Amino acid sequence: MADARPFHWEYTPDPVTREVFRIEGGVPLTGEVPISGSKNAALKMLAAATLTGERCRFTNVPEIEDVRVMAETLRDLGVVVDHPADNVYEVASGDVEWLFVPLEAAAKMRASFMLLGPLLSRFGRVIISNPGGDRIGRRPVDLHVEAMRTLGATIEYRNGYYFATAPGRLRGTEIRFPFVSVMGTENAMLAATLADGHTVIRPAAREPEVDDLIVFLRKMGAEVSRTYPDTIEVVGKRRLRGAEHHVVADRIEAGTFAIAGAVTGGQVTLTGAPCDQMTALLDVFARAGVDATCEGDRIQIDGRALGDRGFRACDIETAPYPGLATDLQSPTSVLLTQAEGTSHVHEAVFEDRLEWLSELRRMGARIDIADNHHATIHGRTPLRGADAEIGDLRAGASLILAALAADGESTIHGAHHVQRGYENIERKFTDLGARIARLEEGTDSTPS
Ligand code: EPZ
Repeated sequence: MADARPFHWEYTPDPVTREVFRIEGGVPLTGEVPISGSKNAALKMLAAATLTGERCRFTNVPEIEDVRVMAETLRDLGVVVDHPADNVYEVASGDVEWLFVPLEAAAKMRASFMLLGPLLSRFGRVIISNPGGDRIGRRPVDLHVEAMRTLGATIEYRNGYYFATAPGRLRGTEIRFPFVSVMGTENAMLAATLADGHTVIRPAAREPEVDDLIVFLRKMGAEVSRTYPDTIEVVGKRRLRGAEHHVVADRIEAGTFAIAGAVTGGQVTLTGAPCDQMTALLDVFARAGVDATCEGDRIQIDGRALGDRGFRACDIETAPYPGLATDLQSPTSVLLTQAEGTSHVHEAVFEDRLEWLSELRRMGARIDIADNHHATIHGRTPLRGADAEIGDLRAGASLILAALAADGESTIHGAHHVQRGYENIERKFTDLGARIARLEEGTDSTPS
């Protein structure tokens, strides 16, 4: 059994190694890029594995910082987490000793809050830090907490922590959310798998990562199913067993690389891509005139129209799945800077996810930000290399795309944000012909 670390309330963030991406733009990307497993599926699987004391094995897990943080958080609870090979994790939560998820974990990664449902349902108590907001919005967790209370838990909030207890078992019931929440749905679903009785969750998130989690839970012996597009039903069991699962491909990473091919005027083929989950983005490509074809798990992007007739401006609006993912709003905004005409961006899911556009302006983009949710992009605007600062994961990847499309050299500060959610991003781009390097800030040396 792993040696669980005693907890403490104070939190001093670990010093972050400041790294930059140095990019020489203007190269049309060409070749094949393999798409990794989904961050937003893998993190929930690792949390779900605490629903049983038996060993669970996951393959196609992306080698990213957020997964490492989740693994560390689990080890701190006393869970055995093995990493026998790249992209393979094994989790055994036989004896969880410390039912405490500290601020350390929450501050590094919001998905640590996904441990509330499984630990509360299996052990009847947990103390878990409020993850707080981040650069994209206030991001409260009130829906998660209300869902647990509806299932019969008592939850008090003190000193930045939720103290949750449920003596005996949680009780199955109807959980009605005021609007769709991805992790709210997933947390309630995990808790309901060990609750006593029948639970109905609606509106339930329809994201493919939620369905991948349902597939894994059913392998564990859970009785859970999506009975209507926006409804998930669960009949609780006394215990679940260990299981094996291959994590679904990452549609957000796939969308990011597809847009990279388009904005550099390149020809890129994505392999292992979840074509059937990318309808909303493919619709944007069709409206913008980006040549994209899907066959099985291969997506071919031909961006040569960029240099020829140019892309067409179009309006986008983010929405819960199957709408356009908010995580693809920033990469798509880069695409729209390269389209002829005026495009309107409506970020409808998060309230602070347009701020990063001011960094894109440093590269010459012509953008008006009307309010927290609306921006107008004027194109086509040739981008030029610049120094820019990354504020969050997706904005970071989007600044890389802009730098790849730009003339000249860019230095993008805050590479650690991108490491959180993209596996080997600079190597994948280098394999497509990009001139990109990750360097320690202030030096020209490549990080060890
Ligand atoms: C998940 O976050 C993803 N994160 C996000 O991806 C993604 O942007 C988001 O879903 C939407 O698709 C993970 O899966 C780890 P929500 P989540 O609850 O579940 C509000 C990335 O870059 N809300 O669906 O936290 C919330 O503030 C990340 O990979 C409440 O008000 O998103 C937001 O406005 C970023 N109260 C809206 O609902 C709550 O209790 C939708 O958020 C919960 C949410």
